[in-house]
Amino acid sequence: MAEQAAGMLARFRAMPNDSRSKTLIVALLLCLICSVIVSTAAVTLKPLQVANAALDRKRNILQVAGLWRADADIEQLFAEIDTRVVELDSGEYSDALDVETYDQRKAARDPSFSDALSGDADIANISRRARYAPVYLVRDNGGLKTIVLPVHGYGLWSTLYGFVALQGDTRSVYGLQFYEHAETPGLGGEVDNPGWRALWRGKPVYDEQGELRIEVVKGQVQSGTNAAYQVDGLAGATFTSLGVSNMLRFWLGEQGFGPYLAKVREGLQ
Ligand SMILES: Cc1cc2nc3c(=O)[nH]c(=O)nc-3n(C[C@H](O)[C@H](O)[C@H](O)COP(=O)(O)O)c2cc1C
Repeated sequence: MAEQAAGMLARFRAMPNDSRSKTLIVALLLCLICSVIVSTAAVTLKPLQVANAALDRKRNILQVAGLWRADADIEQLFAEIDTRVVELDSGEYSDALDVETYDQRKAARDPSFSDALSGDADIANISRRARYAPVYLVRDNGGLKTIVLPVHGYGLWSTLYGFVALQGDTRSVYGLQFYEHAETPGLGGEVDNPGWRALWRGKPVYDEQGELRIEVVKGQVQSGTNAAYQVDGLAGATFTSLGVSNMLRFWLGEQGFGPYLAKVREGLQ
């Protein structure tokens, strides 16, 4: 066997360097070696990538809730947050799913854990909605200080994934932050601009009658009766702005966290 291999190697080395067969063999061997290296790296690095993505989501939750500190450990800070899973239709907490492992994005692709949305029901342009979603509760002296809700919806080029933080009474926004999107830097990508994100702080979500009113407008907010609920649109990025507006109206509305937020206001959750 070893003799056979040595013979093959000797025959290969004896071939002229500019022969077609030798060139092909070298190219094939190179491809094989490279593909083994790349696939080994992909497989071994996958758990690290998943862990990093989870840590990044936690950092974003802490940031939108105003709890993040650069000098503190993310896991330690996150331990202060009470994570629960909510059944969206009933607005009830559910203990049927493990908060540590439940993946809302994966569930939205699984027909046994999600419902298809179409037409007017799908204003956020997400096609399917998972039946359960995590909520992140920040408590202060026993009371609810902030509620962080995961939101996602389509902009111009991509689905934007982020978190909206509401004040504990659920009536106004504390913060909005996206951790994943592929909108154009300088245009739709300005959703990440701290100046624009600051416009959301304190915006009331509902009017006196409890109607969901918050929205992003095209251009600048004009003074008037609706101004209190409105946020300036991003310049040159009307589609992304509309995407953010629709996403919030979906997730804060009846098909999203509406039933849950109503229960929180009634003190039932
Ligand atoms: C290369 C390129 C990238 C763009 N990226 C975005 C984007 O990320 N989000 C967006 O809403 N509009 C983007 N636009 C602009 C839209 O096509 C559209 O013109 C714009 O949303 C209209 O907004 P306006 O009425 O504020 O000008 C992009 C346009 C170009 C040419």
